Amino acid sequence: MNLIDHLRTEARLAPESGISAVANRGRGRPGVIPLWVGEGDLPTPAFIADAAAHALQGGETFYTWQRGIPDLREALARYYGRHFGRAFAAEEFLVTGGGMQAIQLALQATAGAGDEVIYLAPAWPNFPGAAGVAGAKPVPVQLDFGDNGRSWGWSCDVGRIEKAVTPKTRAIFFNSPSNPTGWTADCDTLKAVLDLARRHDLWIIADEIYALFHYGGGRAASFLDIMEPDDRILFVNTFSKNWAMTGWRIGWLKVHPSLQQTFESLIQYSTSGVAQFMQRGAIAALDKGDGLIFEQVERAQKARDLVGDILAGTGRAHFAVPPGAFYLFFSVDGVRDSREAAFRILDEANVGLAPGSAFGGEGFFRLCFHRRLDQVEEAANRLAEWIGKL
Ligand SMILES: Cc1ncc(COP(=O)(O)O)c(C=O)c1O
Repeated sequence: MNLIDHLRTEARLAPESGISAVANRGRGRPGVIPLWVGEGDLPTPAFIADAAAHALQGGETFYTWQRGIPDLREALARYYGRHFGRAFAAEEFLVTGGGMQAIQLALQATAGAGDEVIYLAPAWPNFPGAAGVAGAKPVPVQLDFGDNGRSWGWSCDVGRIEKAVTPKTRAIFFNSPSNPTGWTADCDTLKAVLDLARRHDLWIIADEIYALFHYGGGRAASFLDIMEPDDRILFVNTFSKNWAMTGWRIGWLKVHPSLQQTFESLIQYSTSGVAQFMQRGAIAALDKGDGLIFEQVERAQKARDLVGDILAGTGRAHFAVPPGAFYLFFSVDGVRDSREAAFRILDEANVGLAPGSAFGGEGFFRLCFHRRLDQVEEAANRLAEWIGKL
């Protein structure tokens, strides 16, 4: 008997992540420089870890609020107040099991079997993957990659999003700054997307998790800058990137306060909430972590420029200098099959990259440069040498 045939179709068809495929093969190899997944190399700083450890040792080990403890939701409101320049209420926030669960809950609330959700591609594969598992059809709308005569860049044609809308469309998943391209929407683009969502009665699932990883000075533009309170926007977010907490699996949703009970129920019937002692760590991150974010962004900008200069020096790598997030998404002349090439790069150069095919960007690679500068430089030199031999 083939057990798998008896599973739900959506589960059976859930694709293997193309990022993990390379990482699983190379994990633990001596000398490998792992730039495949979306995380930095810094462990969570002590001021965050200690707050969690202290709460754990102090007995904060019981069931807690499904929506998140009041102290954390108030800290989120303070954090938003500081970075978005107006007042927010604790009732707008719910604590989730990572950004990924926030996405899952946003999907559960807006799109299911027979529905369509639009997203911009190339994209982080977990969004279309989660939409498929929810039974909805993920519909990609391609960003353009082009050369304006001076430099390469990604751009978004909002008209193309509009053309992809059908009577079945329920939501637009909008990730800016983007993983993997680093493309970052300006205010006019956000306004045009919001306008089309209003006209077609669609939800926007706004993934602005990299908003503070922005190299143009200040944070990236946000739907929060232009929306009205009753616009249909659900914000998904995470502690993973800003505070070096990828392994904690804690994030949040920002929604209209009237949706709080609905989302709390969705949390109740999935994870039933996040460990209270972890939430204490998250409060420390929010209240004391602005400097940490700033230092990481400063280092990432240097790493971005370093790797960009070395790869550009080959004359055969093409990319847009990313204004946000911490990935270089580049193509290499002569490479057609990025998965096969990523395996070769792993074997021959001992550098771990994610293949562009995993993001709907065949011919490209994603390199995470959020790492010690000497390692980023070493990885870029190894890659340049590999490209030189092609
Ligand atoms: C665009 C984007 N959204 C959401 C997430 C989710 O983050 P996590 O589930 O680690 O909190 C990631 C992680 O890579 C991401 O790149």
